[in-house]
Amino acid sequence: METLPLYIGGRFVDGADPSQEIVNPATGAPMARAARATGAETEAAIDAAREAFDTGPWATATALKRGQVLLEIARRLRASAAELARLETENMGKPIFEAEFDVADAATCFEYYGGLATKITGDVNPVPDEALSLTLKEPVGVCGQIIPWNYPLLMAAWKIAPALCAGCTVVLKPAEATPATAMAFARILDGIEDLPRGVVNIVTGDGPAVGATLAASPRVDKVAFTGSTRTGRSILRAAADSNLKRVTLELGGKSPNIFFADAGWESAVEGAVFGVFVNQGEVCSAGSRILVERRIHDDFLEAVVEKARAIRLGDPLDRATRMGPLVTAAHRDRVMGYVEQGRREGARLVLGGGRPDGGLARGAYLEPTIFDGVDPGMTIAQEEIFGPVVVIIPFDGEADAVRIANATPYGLAGAVWTRDIFRAFRVVRRLKAGIVWVNHMQPTYVEAPWGGMKMSGAGRELGRYGVENYLELKQVHINLNENPMGWYA
Ligand code: NAI
Ligand code: MG
Repeated sequence: METLPLYIGGRFVDGADPSQEIVNPATGAPMARAARATGAETEAAIDAAREAFDTGPWATATALKRGQVLLEIARRLRASAAELARLETENMGKPIFEAEFDVADAATCFEYYGGLATKITGDVNPVPDEALSLTLKEPVGVCGQIIPWNYPLLMAAWKIAPALCAGCTVVLKPAEATPATAMAFARILDGIEDLPRGVVNIVTGDGPAVGATLAASPRVDKVAFTGSTRTGRSILRAAADSNLKRVTLELGGKSPNIFFADAGWESAVEGAVFGVFVNQGEVCSAGSRILVERRIHDDFLEAVVEKARAIRLGDPLDRATRMGPLVTAAHRDRVMGYVEQGRREGARLVLGGGRPDGGLARGAYLEPTIFDGVDPGMTIAQEEIFGPVVVIIPFDGEADAVRIANATPYGLAGAVWTRDIFRAFRVVRRLKAGIVWVNHMQPTYVEAPWGGMKMSGAGRELGRYGVENYLELKQVHINLNENPMGWYA
């Protein structure tokens, strides 16, 4: 069985503790081992990134060169797309059909930031003086990047592409369970001549060891994190207690998917199902609360249940499969704990809730699960479940819909379905969420900003905003008047 190395300073090195077993969640079979990097190995990666930033040729690479490197990464991703998608599916369990989209999106992300590198400009400020006042944008420095397991390669792209665009260097930490495509990506990067050693380092291992070391290091200038709110808090704390490094957080959600009676029926039903069951519901922006206008509640519930029941659960390498296993058996059990909790709280289970049998029994599968009769205050309506579980909550009118929608600590995303454009805009304005879709749910593009309000995070990724997080501003004042000020005359 293959043992994945660490990628530090442009070299593949064997980790001291290669004990992380990587399992294919569709079968439960081990597929590889990965290193659990130690504190010292993580420090070595930080050293490499520090040196590459402070003294390496990357610091003096032109914006044009950086852009060309990013475009070359995209080209290589596309050339390896089939292998990468397969590896992603084997390690993470998502349908191959979705993994192929993810690899294409990852390449698009590098293309976008490849093009943007030469469009980062500063300002000339109109100060009332004989002077040239400039705002320069400079890379923030060494970036620790900690990513989750639900979109392993795509999250690596969302982190690395804007950082390199800005001229930063990085240490990326994949999630424990899903290092396979990140290490394949390291092999892709390793062959690129114009990408100097140490600019990208990839270190696998445990959150509390590798991730916490990055967050607490005084030699890391910024941490970008995607994952749970709980871990996000600990990262912010570590940043506060060390060097006040810059922190951006993309945390969880409990996003409302809101359906008014006048919504286009077929697309609404499909949007309700797709909104939560895509990627097995392991999506930060999952539409995990379906809010439906009371007078269509019964018909809508019936239609949604019927569509969800027909979702093809199966071998994720099968092209017809639309839902694979969850990422690990442990996560599946965690999600099933919420199903149990929902039952205890008195919600009505109308679909799923169990593990499929037959050929799928070995894998970390869970059926698409729908609860009706849910009170907005129940645990299953408040906490992020991060699996194929959705709650249906009726509402009476627009104000009630908005009130329920906003009544969680989260504010990542939301969607509103209606044919009334005035109502759509009113609801859009009142939702406390960083991303709002109208008559759709989940489309995500690198051109548009992504991130949350409230406890769903801080800062935005993607688009032009995404690169700003990797830039510092420097104000420069150039005096054009040679005469003394005459202050002391
Ligand atoms: P997590 O937040 O613990 O893990 C995400 C990443 O953070 C992983 O790379 C992990 O190794 C790292 N990490 C863990 N502890 C750390 C620490 N103390 N310091 C620095 N880095 C650390 O999430 P986990 O345990 O995988 O999943 C738990 C729940 O979190 C999920 O069920 C889901 O609700 C939520 N989650 C949300 C995600 C999102 O996209 N918003 C992604 C993953 C999980
Ligand atoms: Mg955790």
